[in-house]
Amino acid sequence: MVPMEAGKATTSSSHIMLPPPIPHSMFSSRLPTDLEPNEFTTILQAQKAAGVRILDLTQSNPTEASFTYDFLQTGNIPGHIPGRYEPSAQGLPEARDAIRRYYQGNRHGSISAEDLFLTAGTSEAYGFLLKLLTEPGDEVLIPAPSYPLFDLLATLENVTPVRYALKLNEEGRWRIDFRSLELMISSLTRAIVVVNPNNPTGSYLTAEELVRLNELCRIHDLALIVDEVFLDYINPQDGQKPFSVITNRGALTFTLSGLSKILALPQAKLGWIHVEGPAALKEGAKARLEFIADTYLSVGSMVQQAAPALLTCQQEIQSQIMARTRANETALRSATTLPHLHREGGWYAILQLPDHITDEECCLELLERHSLIVHPGFFYDFAESNRIVVSLIVPPEEFSRGLALIQEYLESRG
Ligand SMILES: Cc1ncc(COP(=O)(O)O)c(C=O)c1O
Repeated sequence: MVPMEAGKATTSSSHIMLPPPIPHSMFSSRLPTDLEPNEFTTILQAQKAAGVRILDLTQSNPTEASFTYDFLQTGNIPGHIPGRYEPSAQGLPEARDAIRRYYQGNRHGSISAEDLFLTAGTSEAYGFLLKLLTEPGDEVLIPAPSYPLFDLLATLENVTPVRYALKLNEEGRWRIDFRSLELMISSLTRAIVVVNPNNPTGSYLTAEELVRLNELCRIHDLALIVDEVFLDYINPQDGQKPFSVITNRGALTFTLSGLSKILALPQAKLGWIHVEGPAALKEGAKARLEFIADTYLSVGSMVQQAAPALLTCQQEIQSQIMARTRANETALRSATTLPHLHREGGWYAILQLPDHITDEECCLELLERHSLIVHPGFFYDFAESNRIVVSLIVPPEEFSRGLALIQEYLESRG
């Protein structure tokens, strides 16, 4: 989202001070030229300034969604700054071993802690990997629809994000459109990003898709970057058997995850990269990643020391989130006038609007008329303009109130 305060004139009680003109060449072209708030943000700011109560159906910050975090209070979790600094490029061995146990305990796969690199969140992991794999001007393939942050992360590394399509199949499941993916591969392409399960479609990678991705990576010398932050959040009512790519050796594979979703602790700022693949490539990647990680040494010691105890608490928070997403999805299903797409996993629901209402006008009008926030599909690069996205971790009472407002709005539009 556009930073709300960016580009605003500063005011004092007696006069208006305009920001001094800035020569364009002062700042990098990696940054957006227009940081002004858009129409949506302007309306939202005005409503907030007027004290209007906003109902936010896009809330996906778990720490603001009325979950209980009793496990943080148990006293078993180290919370002090250690007196000694023991820098470790890959991350503390105890923390990496706890992550290894997480993969083993959840039957995601058997890995070595030696193949893990800790980062300050998953977003930083992308930065490290783009430094590892690309030259300025190179391209990475990213899925569409998907999480908008990838675009920004690539651009900030001087890399061009190129979208490949996910398409709904006859069974209503989102799958990689390999025709689109292959068309997008050029001599500048360095990596394919896959999100398993994808945000916001909730679709998991299938075994057949992984075989084809490995083949494309082999033919074109590409790396696979697989973001599995939502891996554990399977929809139990879906018949699929999702899997992690953590042990994939068919291509140089970087698997990303972190505590922001596994433990619903984005503030912990602990993510990781796991490296797997053909031996020579894997060793080459690890040596260079170690160099990058050693340059930053960005992960705080406190969270690394707390990681083993924190990771034993996975079920306490995940059971609450699973119950919440289930309850909200049930509410959505009973709102029969709100068609929505099938969900294999993740935290989001995709609602389908009647063809005569676009996502953009729907979002603006919901905000203007009902002070309700939903995400337009274009935010995630949906090809269709009649989709809106809501978070399934919103507290149930608010979620139901929001659904009722969307229904009221759609009825008013006929
Ligand atoms: C698919 C996906 N990847 C990565 C992230 C960022 O994770 P982190 O908080 O670990 O940087 C998010 C955040 O919502 C996400 O949805």
